[in-house]
Amino acid sequence: MTTWTGLLFFLCSILSPALCCDWFSRYSHQSNISLTLIRLMGGPMTDEESPVSFPYKLYRRIRRAEVETQLVFIRESLKQIFELYHYGNLSSVNWDTSKTHHFLQSIHRQKDDVSTCMLSTKTANCRLKNYYRRLAKKTLYRTGFSTASWELIRKVTEQHLDQLDLLANSIRALAAASRRRSGPRPQKD
Ligand SMILES: *[C@@H]1O[C@H](CO)[C@@H](O)[C@H](O)[C@H]1NC(C)=O
Ligand SMILES: *[C@@H]1O[C@H](CO)[C@@H](O)[C@H](O)[C@H]1NC(C)=O
Repeated sequence: MTTWTGLLFFLCSILSPALCCDWFSRYSHQSNISLTLIRLMGGPMTDEESPVSFPYKLYRRIRRAEVETQLVFIRESLKQIFELYHYGNLSSVNWDTSKTHHFLQSIHRQKDDVSTCMLSTKTANCRLKNYYRRLAKKTLYRTGFSTASWELIRKVTEQHLDQLDLLANSIRALAAASRRRSGPRPQKD
């Protein structure tokens, strides 16, 4: 038993701490709260199209990357989303103030949860940062933080949170599969 635990621990520390760390349940709970709040903090989502197309390509690419890189991607995305709202001028929005505040807190916690088991100090590639910069520039900055531009940002944020949730779930599934592959546990007699 000790040997098995030792071996597993060894593999976890060498291969990928992310696969072994129990970050997921807290993260998943927090992700649910963020998604719920972004839907409830304002009225129905706008039908307007964002001037910056949604970066499905980035998500497709990250799905083929290794787990540590995926976690870095999730963490960086949450940071970028947090900063959009945190440093933006929100005075034109008619969202529920308290829900908006809790939404931001939730995004921050979600970012912390995904960071808990990351040893990596890697930073995300600049495509992701460029995307968020372009998004802010073509919506919020261009219109001086108009109501309509914030509604676009809220809609796009929901899409990102959905995608990040899917990505986290796929990491979770991979971790579960790799635990099963690590072989039959020794039977107690
Ligand atoms: C959050 O979790 C509840 C309970 O499991 C579920 O009914 C709800 O659909 C979830 N909400 C989102 C936005 O995923
Ligand atoms: C925020 O925007 C409003 C108009 O929507 C403006 O009156 C106010 O000065 C802006 N605040 C800052 C800090 O730029």
